[in-house]
Amino acid sequence: MRRLLVTHALPYANGPLHLGHLLGYIQADIWVRFQRMCGNDVTFVAGEDAHGTPIMLAAEKAGLSPERFVAEIKQKHERDFKDFNVVHDCYHTTHSPENRRLSERIYRALRDAGHIARREVEQAYDPVKGMFLPDRYVKGVCPNCAAPDQYGDNCEDCGATYSVRDLKSPYSVISGAAPSFKPSEHYFFKLSQLQDSVATWLDGAQVHESVKAKLREWLDAGLKDWDISRDAPYFGFAIPDLGPDAPGKYFYVWLDAPIGYFASLLALLDGDEARLDEFIGAGSTAEMWHFLGKDIINFHGLFWPAMLRGAGLRQPTGLAVNGYLTVNGAKMSKSRGTFIQARTYLDCGLNPEYLRYYFAAKSTPGVDDIDLNLDDFVARVNSDLVGKYVNIASRCAGFIHSHFDGTLAPELPEPIQHHTTDSVVQSGESTYDLEKFVAAGKQIRAAYESRDFAKAIRQVMSLTDIANQYIDGVRPWLLAKSNRTSELWGACTLALNLFRFLTVYLKPILPALAQDAESFLNIPPLSWADADRPLLDHVIKPYKPLATRIDPAKIKAMIEASKENLAPMNPTPNHSAAEPAQDQPAYATIDDFKKIELRIARIDNAEVVEGADKLLRLTLDVGELGKREVFAGIKSAYAPESLVGRLTVVVANLAPRKMRFGVSEGMVLAASGEDGRPFLLWPDSGARAGMIVR
Ligand code: MSP
Ligand code: ZN
Repeated sequence: MRRLLVTHALPYANGPLHLGHLLGYIQADIWVRFQRMCGNDVTFVAGEDAHGTPIMLAAEKAGLSPERFVAEIKQKHERDFKDFNVVHDCYHTTHSPENRRLSERIYRALRDAGHIARREVEQAYDPVKGMFLPDRYVKGVCPNCAAPDQYGDNCEDCGATYSVRDLKSPYSVISGAAPSFKPSEHYFFKLSQLQDSVATWLDGAQVHESVKAKLREWLDAGLKDWDISRDAPYFGFAIPDLGPDAPGKYFYVWLDAPIGYFASLLALLDGDEARLDEFIGAGSTAEMWHFLGKDIINFHGLFWPAMLRGAGLRQPTGLAVNGYLTVNGAKMSKSRGTFIQARTYLDCGLNPEYLRYYFAAKSTPGVDDIDLNLDDFVARVNSDLVGKYVNIASRCAGFIHSHFDGTLAPELPEPIQHHTTDSVVQSGESTYDLEKFVAAGKQIRAAYESRDFAKAIRQVMSLTDIANQYIDGVRPWLLAKSNRTSELWGACTLALNLFRFLTVYLKPILPALAQDAESFLNIPPLSWADADRPLLDHVIKPYKPLATRIDPAKIKAMIEASKENLAPMNPTPNHSAAEPAQDQPAYATIDDFKKIELRIARIDNAEVVEGADKLLRLTLDVGELGKREVFAGIKSAYAPESLVGRLTVVVANLAPRKMRFGVSEGMVLAASGEDGRPFLLWPDSGARAGMIVR
């Protein structure tokens, strides 16, 4: 019996779970259930990733303390996990006493071993908000290509990376103020000292080759010291032992986040650190597996093993890394309605196990992105689960009840001589089928073990084909008609036994469906060891439909609901005073309004766009923001030359949008009535290009 500690990446406690999150979480849950079915001792823990600047600011915006904010999101996440049958032994939070204790313990161990350095850094500071700004919270004009509204660390337009100091006309995303630059003492984890030990760990770890290659690339380039501290205000844990002369230093969220895995385990163990050390101590014989997405392999494959080694703890056995989820072949998109929240899927009446099945059918040990093609999803579930697997039981159960009092035959049938020429089942194949199912179990088990769920499902589905072909061949309905009762009994008993084997093999993926199948078969919970002998002379329950087909209308409804679902999750719908009643239009807060940057633009040039009926291409001068190219649907109302030189209003901070004819870098404002004819806005005389409209 193996002992395993399994974790999955902790979701940030600042928004609802979406189907992308669920991909890796479901993979972890399937593997855990599989290991348990094999008799292994598995502890499966996770929790909220509660700390950091974005969560602090989100809580502030919601008018809640960060503790309260995080706690409310945690409840929502827990409900989603439960409803998708992702079941942890403990689901905790990084903002917990256990995590503080362990973070301090690990930090002190690193410090005492000489792995922590102190150094002054200059950082952007928001003088209005009174806080240091992470690079992501500073925007400005790219020093390389002059694209406006680029982040403080890299330009999404030209790809340049730079220091926030080099950004032109920088402003704080929080207050809009120009940041100053202030020195601050930071704490660094000296990764270079542990680089060799990370490389050695990586060689022996169970990590997919493509992930290893990427990690080795980073190792070969050399690991830089990692800044593990942040200045107040910050939602996190204060760095201990700094004394009165160094207040207000916190652990960076990514330092205490993976330690949160251990915190969750410690909570499960009622705070017993000695028992915790059986899992995390250097001599632990337990396996430790982390499931995570490909965007965070640096944290799990470099920093985390370095932290563990530096603190004298064990390192991970393996990393199970998932690619990104796409929907209908593209990145999940709010405008297309494919940014689908876990809750939206459920609210549309879709069965959570169907999503588990589809994800499993696409999951390989590799890190390729996985596409949820919604047409394929419907077709696949309807054909595999309803048409093939469940069908086996529904075709045979009735005869057992109508002819044999609900009791399975005492033995499997003798090889049957078939009366049809088109029969696919040859004489003698009936017992052979069962052996084939036993033998296939070994391969299916190996596929699960290596997390090749796609392969496991391919094998299971080819067995369901064999089972259905067997039923097609023996034709129980004809046997019943012609009173060949003993043959009927044997055939239905065999078919239901094949169904039972398939249930074992699908159970890690479909725990609820398997449970229903177990009650129909009237048996205790199936484990892997049950797939070696038939169930005979046994009374089963009447058959009730175990699965129903997906109605494609539900998929449509889900897409529509996701399109509307643009509002961020509000953790306190009942307490928020500013919340209008359901049927009134939602108010925009002044902060919402401030997010839209309106500027005066001068139309430098306007021209028709070849191949576009409605569009004009406008070149706008937006003063200090430079030139913008914008496509506007105003061709029907304005001759291009009549626009040149005039002033109008542009939304200056709209995300650039790729269109068929080029990239539109903003939007000009126009009024329109019923007939849709646009009337551009003009400012009064005196306004100049670049002025802010407020
Ligand atoms: N809080 C960190 C993880 C800390 S682990 C100590 C984090 N949170 S997250 O909410 O952004 O992501 C949680 C998990 O979901 C990660 O494994 C991430 O890779 C995964 N995914 C988020 N979006 C995803 C997709 N669209 N597709 C697949 N996985 C995705 O990162
Ligand atoms: Zn640039």
